[in-house]
Amino acid sequence: MDKMIIDGGERLEGEVTISGAKNAALPIMAATLLADGTSVLENIPDLRDIRTIAELLRRLGAQVDLDSGRAEINTSPVNNLIAPYDLVRTMRASVLVLGPLLARHGRAQVSLPGGCAIGTRPINLHLKGLAAMGAEITLEHGYVKAKAPSQGLQGAEIFLDLPTVTGTENLLMAAVLAEGTTVLRNAAREPEISDLAGALSAMGAQIEGSGTDVITVQGVKSLEAMSYNVMPDRIEAGTFMVAAGVTHGRITMRQVPLATLTTVENRLRQAGLTFDRQGEDAVVVTGPAVINSVDVKTEPYPGFPTDMQAQFMALMCLASGLSVITETVFDNRFIHVDELKRMGADIRLSGNTAIVEGLPSLLGAPVMATDLRASASLVLAGLAAKGQTELSRVYHLDRGYERIEEKLSALGARIRRIKA
Ligand code: UD1
Repeated sequence: MDKMIIDGGERLEGEVTISGAKNAALPIMAATLLADGTSVLENIPDLRDIRTIAELLRRLGAQVDLDSGRAEINTSPVNNLIAPYDLVRTMRASVLVLGPLLARHGRAQVSLPGGCAIGTRPINLHLKGLAAMGAEITLEHGYVKAKAPSQGLQGAEIFLDLPTVTGTENLLMAAVLAEGTTVLRNAAREPEISDLAGALSAMGAQIEGSGTDVITVQGVKSLEAMSYNVMPDRIEAGTFMVAAGVTHGRITMRQVPLATLTTVENRLRQAGLTFDRQGEDAVVVTGPAVINSVDVKTEPYPGFPTDMQAQFMALMCLASGLSVITETVFDNRFIHVDELKRMGADIRLSGNTAIVEGLPSLLGAPVMATDLRASASLVLAGLAAKGQTELSRVYHLDRGYERIEEKLSALGARIRRIKA
C-alpha cells in the first residue's frame, strides 16, 4: 500500500486549481442510467471513487471512457441490474444506482453497504422513499431487491426524517421518470444536489426547488443523454484553504465554488485567515501569523460541512486557545483524533464533542486513517508539523483528492508518495 511522506514546516505559496466535485460527479454519473445513449461529462476528477462508479456502470453493461477530466458513458447496452457487494463495500455511494435503475428498468438489486468507519450509515430513508413511490423492496442475502409496479414508479409526497444527501439524490433520480408529481420534503440542500438537478434538467427532467428543502418533480416519460460540466469541489477547496492557514501561507485558488463555502469561509476568517476575492471563482487565501481558536458545529448545508470537520480540527490544533468542535451529522467521525494526538495534539473527546487546546506546533509521526477526510486532516497536520510524517493507507486520500501530492508540491510542500 502506498505511503505519503511529508516533511513539515514549509510555508505554502502559489496557485492551485480546484478539481471537479467528487460528490457531484458520482450521482451525475449514476444519472446517465436514466436514458439510453451517450452522455458526455466534463470536469470529472481523476479519483478512486470515480473509477469505482465507472467500474460499477461497466458491470451493469454501460461503456465508460474516462480520460483527462471527461467521462463518456454509453448506457444503451445496460443489461445487468445488479450492483455487487465487492464494489459497494469499497464505496457506499454505489447505492446511487438504485434510484435510476429502478426508474428506468423497473428493477434493481444493490448490495447493502455494510459498516462504515465514521458511524452507522443506514439507507432506510432511501428505501422508505422508494417504497412510497410504489416500489416493492425486500432484503435478501445482503442485497436490497427493488421492483417497481408494472405501471412504473408513482409520484408521491415524501418526508425525509433526516435531510440525507445521497437519499435525496436517489429519490430525485427515481422521481424524474415516475408518473405524476413527487414532492420531497426536508430534502437535503447540499450544492451537489443542485448540480445533479442541473444535470437531470439537461436530460429533460422537470425539477423545481433544488437547493431548498422542498423539491418538486414532475415526472416525464423519457429522458435523453446529456452533456454536462460538473461543479468544482467545495471540500477540496476548503482543504486547501486550511493548508494556507496551518502553514501561514498564501494560496491563490482557481475554480473555487465560493458561493457554496460561505460558512467555511466565515469560520476561517474568524480563525484569522484572509480572503481576497479575484472575481467569482478565484480567491487568494492567506494564513495568519497567529491562528485564533473558533468553535464549530457540523450541520447539513448551509451549515458547517461534516466533510470539513477533520481538516478544521487540524487547524485548531495549532490555534492560540481552546476550541470546541461538535459533530452532529455522523455518530463516530473522530477517527483522526487519536492520530492527531500521536502528533502531539491536545484533544479531549466527550461524546460528539472534541475539545481542542491549541499548541504552538505539532510533531511529525507515523499515522494512518481509515476515512477520507480524516486522512486529509493528517496531511494538513503533517504540513505544519516539525519533522517527518508518514501517512499510510493513502488509498483513503486517493478516493477524494486528485493528485494531492502534486498540487501540494507545486505550492512548495515537501510531500512525496512511496509506491508500495
Ligand atoms: C453524503 C456525502 C458525504 C457527506 C455526507 C454528509 C456523497 C457521496 N457523500 O453522504 O461525503 O459526509 O453526505 O454531508 O455525497 N441517514 C439515515 N438513514 C438514511 C440515510 C442517512 O439515518 O437512509 C443518516 C446517516 O446515518 C447520517 C445522516 O443521515 O447520520 C446524514 O447522512 P447522509 O446525508 O445520507 O450522508 P451520505 O449521503 O451517505
